Formats: sequence, structure tokens, C-alpha cells
Amino acid sequence: MTEDSQAAAPSPKIDTTVPHSARIWNYWLGGKDNYPVDREAGDRYREIYPQIVDTARAGRYFMARAVRYLAGQVGIRQFLDVGTGLPTVDNTHEVAQRVAPECRIVYVDNDPLVLVHARALLTSSAEGVCDYIDADMRDPEAILTAAARTLDLTRPVALLLMGVMGHISDDDEARRIADGLLGGLPAGSYLALADSISSGRGHQEAGEKYSETGAVPYQLRSPEQIKGFFSGLTLVDPGVVPLAEWRPDPSPFPPTHVDTLGGVGQKALRREITETDAAESQPRPFLMIEYSFDLFSYSTFAYPTRPVT
Ligand SMILES: C[S@@+](CC[C@H](N)C(=O)[O-])C[C@H]1O[C@@H](n2cnc3c(N)ncnc32)[C@H](O)[C@@H]1O
Repeated sequence: MTEDSQAAAPSPKIDTTVPHSARIWNYWLGGKDNYPVDREAGDRYREIYPQIVDTARAGRYFMARAVRYLAGQVGIRQFLDVGTGLPTVDNTHEVAQRVAPECRIVYVDNDPLVLVHARALLTSSAEGVCDYIDADMRDPEAILTAAARTLDLTRPVALLLMGVMGHISDDDEARRIADGLLGGLPAGSYLALADSISSGRGHQEAGEKYSETGAVPYQLRSPEQIKGFFSGLTLVDPGVVPLAEWRPDPSPFPPTHVDTLGGVGQKALRREITETDAAESQPRPFLMIEYSFDLFSYSTFAYPTRPVT
């Protein structure tokens, strides 16, 4: 580790000359697993679009709320988190297993530094399982084949696509990937997705400057395009909405608005889930502990849950 580079000493596979999405995201979240080239690209974006820091944090909060909802109120016990990112506070398995320790989680990312840090994502509870797949989401079939080592793909799975679809610029290609992943999951499975919408010239310009750094561009989509990922699914209330509006936690602070939409949808109606699935998916009361990155508040809530009818 050097003064300039706070991340682990790079292995030959880790290119520190080109900014990487996972490392820039980590920088915006206040992490240390990034290199000067990532911080430079992150700063360029932030100078034009300062809201990006709030966007990254709001994305993590939404992910935690969605996973808590799925594990706590719906009873989902299997998660496939594609485009995981570098480990941070409250990784998917920590949120899910806090509700139900037996949850099984498969992480997928194609960034070599995420692979290096994957150990931190594999700290499963004794009752559950975590696995990590080093793969490109452009190959849904390979991901599903590898995920089947850990997940029972005849039982409902929650697919998480959080802040990742923008890395696929072409809309048809992005839909093919999301549909391909969901297509391998059984009825009763869920999609939880968040992605950013274009909010004007400054936002677009930030993306253009970011792309000039050599980082993989991030395509901002229209609200209709983001809603399109949920086509054919039954949306959970309140639908595809700005992140702060999706089942917000009680808070004494006003919500921070970001230009990102999120939603959760189910592949089929609950009544199509088999009796066995339903029996094993009984929700349970749990203590919801909400905490976040060092600069945020820490709060604890007792959160009653009720069966979904
Ligand atoms: C903006 S970060 C989001 C991380 C995390 N989902 C979150 O919400 O905090 C995007 C992540 O997607 C990963 N990613 C980008 N393109 C990918 C691809 N083609 N296949 C798999 N992962 C990809 C990046 O490496 C990065 O970790």
C-alpha cells in the first residue's frame, strides 16, 4: 500500500491505469479500495454532478430495504446479486441473513478487484451459504449454471440488479440480459433493480467526461426504459419510483432525492407458488437494524412484519 493508492497492492490482473466502476463506486461511498486513477475519474464526475455521492448511498439504502422486504415480508431465502461491487457496509448476505440466517446468496461481478476482495463477501452465517462467481453478466446462461451450485433454481430467487444495467449501453442488450437471468428463475422469483435516469445536461455531461477517462460508460435511461425491465412482472407497491419513495424507513430526517428509480417485481403471482414454497416462505418478525457508512446516523428500529396475503 502506498500513500497514493489505498487499495490492496495490485496483482498483475488489476489494471491501475484505467478507472473501474467498482472502484469509483467504492470511492464515492467513502471506501478505500480504489486507486488514484479511480479517484480522478470519480472527482471529474462529481465536479459536474455532485449528487453522485448521494446517489451511491441512496442505492445502497434501497438495496438494503429491498432485501429486508424480500427476506422479511415475502420470505425469500435465495439471492442472486449481479454487479455486486466491492464489499462495503451491509452487503446483501449480511442484510438477508440478519433476517433469516439460512439465506443463500450468490454474488456475481466481473471486476478483478472485487474477486480479490470476495473473501469479505463469503462470511456467511453457519446456517446459510455465500458464493462468488467471477463472470460477465452478458452471459446469463453461464451465471445461472454456476449459481445452480449454490441456489436451488426450482425455488424462488431474488435477482438483484443494482446500479449495473447502465453498463450495458444498448437497451435491447440490457433487456436481453435481465430477461435471460430472470428466465432461468422459477415463478415466484423477484427482480429488484435500481438505475439512474438522466436529469439534464449536467448529468449527461458528467457521464461524457467520465467516459473520456477510459472507464466503461454508464448509460442513463428514461423512466420508461427502467420500468421496461419489469415488463411482465407484478410490481410490488409503490412500483418503480425514486429510491427515497420506495418503502422508506422511519427517519427524523427528510429524504434525499436522487435521480435514480428503483422497484421490486415478482415473476408470477403469489398464488402460483407451490404450497411447499409458501410453507417454507413464512415471514417472521425480525429486528431491523439500520446503519450505514461512517458519516451517517445510526439508528435501530423494532419493525413488526406481517404475512403477505
Ligand atoms: C455502480 S457499481 C454497483 C455496485 C452495487 N451493485 C451497488 O449497488 O452498490 C456496478 C458494478 O457492476 C459491475 N459490473 C459492470 N459491468 C459488469 C458486467 N458486464 N458483468 C458483471 N458485473 C459488472 C462493476 O464491476 C461494479 O462492481
